[in-house]
Amino acid sequence: MSRIGIFGGTFAPFHKGHEQALKSFLNLAEIDLCLVIPAGTPPHKTKTQMFTDRQRLEMTQRACDGIEGVTVSDFELQKESKSYTYQTLGWLKEQYPDDTLILYVGSDMLLTLQQWVRPEEIFALAEIAAFSRTGTDLTELKNHASALEKTFPGARITVYREPPFAVSSTEIREKWERGEDLSDLIPEGVNEYLTLLRYENFLRSHLSEHRLNHSLGVMKEAEALAEIHGADVKKARIAGLLHDMTKEYPKEEHFRLFEKYSVDLDENLKTNKNLWHAVSASVAITEVFGITDPEIASAIRFHTTGKATMSLLEAILYIADLTDETRDYDDVDFYRALARENVEKAVLIALRWCKNDVEERGLNVHKDMIDAIAWLTEKYPHITEETEKTRMKYPMKGSL
Ligand SMILES: [Fe+2]
Ligand SMILES: [Fe+2]
Repeated sequence: MSRIGIFGGTFAPFHKGHEQALKSFLNLAEIDLCLVIPAGTPPHKTKTQMFTDRQRLEMTQRACDGIEGVTVSDFELQKESKSYTYQTLGWLKEQYPDDTLILYVGSDMLLTLQQWVRPEEIFALAEIAAFSRTGTDLTELKNHASALEKTFPGARITVYREPPFAVSSTEIREKWERGEDLSDLIPEGVNEYLTLLRYENFLRSHLSEHRLNHSLGVMKEAEALAEIHGADVKKARIAGLLHDMTKEYPKEEHFRLFEKYSVDLDENLKTNKNLWHAVSASVAITEVFGITDPEIASAIRFHTTGKATMSLLEAILYIADLTDETRDYDDVDFYRALARENVEKAVLIALRWCKNDVEERGLNVHKDMIDAIAWLTEKYPHITEETEKTRMKYPMKGSL
């Protein structure tokens, strides 16, 4: 017989206070498996509007990733109607008929438990683990627990003390909106999630829907390739999401950024407007978000041309831009498969295709692209589109 813990909350977002409370619950109440359940529409709390249900679930999953003995459940989020605790416990009792359910509650919740819907069912289905954060209300909580046990025969309530952690979700949301550092207040995975969400919100107001979806697609594709090839996944996500952030800026904005960040423009760059956004985005990430990572900046800077000696991250972004889920051209599956095998080979073949395309349109090929092709050709002298397509059994007559 196992002890199954239930740890519910709105989690908008899941913060370090929740994390600490969860760990205290696991240890002190000797929980074998804990279900962390983001609330759907909790009857006792006004639902926060800032994050969608999916976002709260994903943040909670990220926060609980790596905490042993914890599973995140979307049970309450899946329900269309209001979810009451006695209903969730009833469902859990069906899942774990032979085990003991233990419900985590905070001080304020214990003091109002008798007013919840069908408290007698709650007490019949689960033991209660009540946690005091301040410690000053321990006597009050213990007295209240005894009173509840008298009113509801069979109720089992244990009162614990957990270390205080002063943090509120409201404070976190306000700081997040102002772009302030949250690393002391929320788990690392949630921090990264919220950072990306802030970037996404910026893109939402600066890009067309089609380009926003492309950017989200490139983020996912770059993440997948980084995982396969051992690149920095966090940097790949950021570079993928932001690579086109200035694509819809007017000309003056690009040139304002070039001047502000003293970007040296060669003749080709001055006149080739297709390349401006890569260069301006590589500095706009600093202006708008304070990102100063040179690897991310360089990947964005060269995502349209490539260059001689490309880092893994640069190569990943170059190819992810052409293979994200929103792309749909004849050869896309070939490039996706080759990029998963060897990013540089995929970049080489794509670069050659792009160079031809630029030439066919009567435009000048940028020197960085020529250098990139030369560098990769030296590295892979026998690789051509034909050798790879034949080897991987893709038809020759495709197009990028
Ligand atoms: Fe681009
Ligand atoms: Fe792009």
